[in-house]
Amino acid sequence: MGYPLPTTNSLKGPFQPMRFEATVEECIVSEGEIPKDLAGGFYRTGPTWKRPTKQGPNPLLGMDGMVQGLVFRDGRADFRNRWIRTPKYLLEERHGRGMFEWADGGFGDWRDNAYCDVVRDQYTQGVPQGTSNINIFPFAGEMVASSEQGGPPIAIDPITLETRGIVPWSPKLSQGLTEPAAYGATCFAAHPKWDADTGILYGWNYRDTAPYVTMHFVHPDGTVESRDVTDAPYNTVAHDIWLTPEWVVMPFQPFTVDRKKVTEKQLGIWGWESELPIVIGLIPRHDIHGEIRWITTDLPPQYIMHTMSANVEGDLLTLDGPIFNRPPFPFEQDFAAGDDVALFFSVAKSHLGRWSIDLKTGAAKSEQLSDRPSELPKVDERFYGKGYEWGYQVGGVVKRQGMSMNSLVMTNMKTLAEQAYQIRTDQPAAVLEATFAPRNIDSPEGDGYIIVPVSWWADRRGEFQIFDTHDITKGPICRIDIPFFMGWTPHGHWMDFR
Ligand SMILES: [Fe+2]
Repeated sequence: MGYPLPTTNSLKGPFQPMRFEATVEECIVSEGEIPKDLAGGFYRTGPTWKRPTKQGPNPLLGMDGMVQGLVFRDGRADFRNRWIRTPKYLLEERHGRGMFEWADGGFGDWRDNAYCDVVRDQYTQGVPQGTSNINIFPFAGEMVASSEQGGPPIAIDPITLETRGIVPWSPKLSQGLTEPAAYGATCFAAHPKWDADTGILYGWNYRDTAPYVTMHFVHPDGTVESRDVTDAPYNTVAHDIWLTPEWVVMPFQPFTVDRKKVTEKQLGIWGWESELPIVIGLIPRHDIHGEIRWITTDLPPQYIMHTMSANVEGDLLTLDGPIFNRPPFPFEQDFAAGDDVALFFSVAKSHLGRWSIDLKTGAAKSEQLSDRPSELPKVDERFYGKGYEWGYQVGGVVKRQGMSMNSLVMTNMKTLAEQAYQIRTDQPAAVLEATFAPRNIDSPEGDGYIIVPVSWWADRRGEFQIFDTHDITKGPICRIDIPFFMGWTPHGHWMDFR
């Protein structure tokens, strides 16, 4: 059975689906040389439309995850991309059609996310709806792909990119926003952090009913320490955290989630309740059941979607990340029934900022650190939870109420000195989230390479540009060609093989 490619915003331009699997060995290096000392892989995942859903529309979280991997060794790079063969993918593959129906899946407009409950029938009974299309991160020698509260974490082979299956520690996790479809069909955070020395992964789940958040610290041997955060101030879209030497720092921001808005009021699931205070939870890292310190701030209504990293000096906790004026997602305040989904970064803009918390008094202050719109912050992840100096982001320019991304930005977060390189001017292209790869396994923090995926989608080709952190203003030291349309991916991470 054939079907046309839908013409909704979510499938236009860089968001067109890459509907094939490819293996490109020894990728063409069109400029410069791949550093010979680089050994590891850069993995990304993204929602990829395969066929219409049972309901017809194309909600983002319902599109199947596809993993892309660029593996480096001996001065060469090999590219692969594979569908993530989740239980949902396998069921639909067997039947050759979309099998799932979501409470927020049939509006045919911006309210469709595939984030709510699924209507279960004889086919989907017991099958998790997760698509693993938001992030992929290294853990215990595997790459693990995660949804936004949609389904269990899925292990991916770092070389072949074949799906190994649901991680064995999934039954020890809690449920996410919706009831698990089957035993072990739990969820996991999209943006966990980890400690490079101990290998412990700091994750959680969130939901719209109490307990709003459950923490999960996963050890490399598969044991899981868990805690329900029973005194959380309100439900929040807990998308990201900061890790410090002592705490998991979880921000409760007035970006809320409520399934009843969909089922009872036919609104979108998300809310922006800007009258609620921003509350910071300091959850003890080394004693998951220890006392959580709650700091109710008087910060203005703001939103940090992705964290950069944090420092603690004396009594001062600094929490860095791009700060939005409001979440870059559609709400009923500005969208009506029938309006198409809004593209990322078209409804709000963010600038690199800092929330500083005085740990003695609990006083909080917000600062904007740059005039440049930016998002997708990354750091040298060997130093997660250890304090940091160097941050990387995709920078851009203001475009209407939002922003248009075009450059790589590197910032010294101690001095705020900034370097930037403009990757595109007016050519249609998507400058995607970068990753940092260290020069050597024991290089100092921030000494290495930044790898930036660029989709030249109008030319039907992709590219990875590699920058040397010594000086990014000189442009890439190397360009690696991907000889076809490279699908859009929101997030990914580096795994070192050295
Ligand atoms: Fe994210």
